[in-house]
Amino acid sequence: MVRDQVNHAVLGLRRLRGSPHIRSLTREVRLSVDQFIQPLFVVEGISQPELIPGLTAVKRETPHSLLAQIESDLDRGVSKFLLFGVPAKKGERDFDFSFTANQLRAIKNKFGDRVFLSVDVCLCSQTVHGQCGVLSPEHDCVENAASVDELVRAACEYAKAGADCVAPSDMMDGRIGAIRQALDHHGYEKTLLMSYSAKFHSRFYGPFRVAADSAPKGQSALKDRATYQIDPARPSDALECSLRDAEEGADILMVKPGMPYLDVLQDLSRGIPKPWAVYEVSGEYAAIEIMAREGLINREAAHIEAWTAFVRAGAEIIISYGAREARTWIERNLP
Ligand code: PBG
Repeated sequence: MVRDQVNHAVLGLRRLRGSPHIRSLTREVRLSVDQFIQPLFVVEGISQPELIPGLTAVKRETPHSLLAQIESDLDRGVSKFLLFGVPAKKGERDFDFSFTANQLRAIKNKFGDRVFLSVDVCLCSQTVHGQCGVLSPEHDCVENAASVDELVRAACEYAKAGADCVAPSDMMDGRIGAIRQALDHHGYEKTLLMSYSAKFHSRFYGPFRVAADSAPKGQSALKDRATYQIDPARPSDALECSLRDAEEGADILMVKPGMPYLDVLQDLSRGIPKPWAVYEVSGEYAAIEIMAREGLINREAAHIEAWTAFVRAGAEIIISYGAREARTWIERNLP
């Protein structure tokens, strides 16, 4: 009896793979351009858009070219964005957030509610040393409280400039609660808060740090971000951070990077009933681009496969450098 069932199943399983029609009917995971957020870089003091090694279609934009890029993205069905502002002036504390705020204002003035505008809240593009927070006087550690004060100021300024969503990526303790409280206090109750809650200390951020001019530099004893980002070998830290950030008022939680952390995404998204975003980070995106350039992989199909894995593991939202290609690639590769 058991044997009969097994034989029957073995024979039957290939029937459901037999044609594009039956494959598209039986898919359990579906992709749509609606799920995507496109990251954007805008850089102060450059006169032309600049290519970013590994990221192909994504550029370091000027304030002017940024608006044209968004116009073209809207034509491609992408209306959700995550802005990274890269100001020219670097400092140690008392940062000036006006460059990024001005870009948010310009985008909202031009596009209004046609776009959903999120903004990265961090200090690494503005610090002389490239760390994500304010350093102690001895330059030997990132000070939590002083960093949170600066991040709260940035978040409020960005909300005032019209950001629909602020997204802190710094990994300081307590910043979600502090930002939520300050936003509410200043009348920005509607501004969403997306926490990079499960952000790991990853080597896959390489191309981004070129784009955002944010690699840790020599001036401090800290060589990397290991004292504040999550250790890849400690998934329970990601769980604790995500539970805490949900409790402190995050509306959306995130796992970052994506592909090397699918197990974390699956566990956390099943366990914590919040919308989950996944960040397909620069290095994992570039890995596919570079393999495709070498003729080792089918570019579009490989990206679709990675995105499918994110949704299968529980993500509702995909932040990807390929968002602006999503509609075309999905149509062409998932008929
Ligand atoms: C800033 C920040 C980083 C990324 C997003 N926000 C880099 C880092 O923490 O070093 C990475 C994004 C990517 O690699 O695509 N703190």
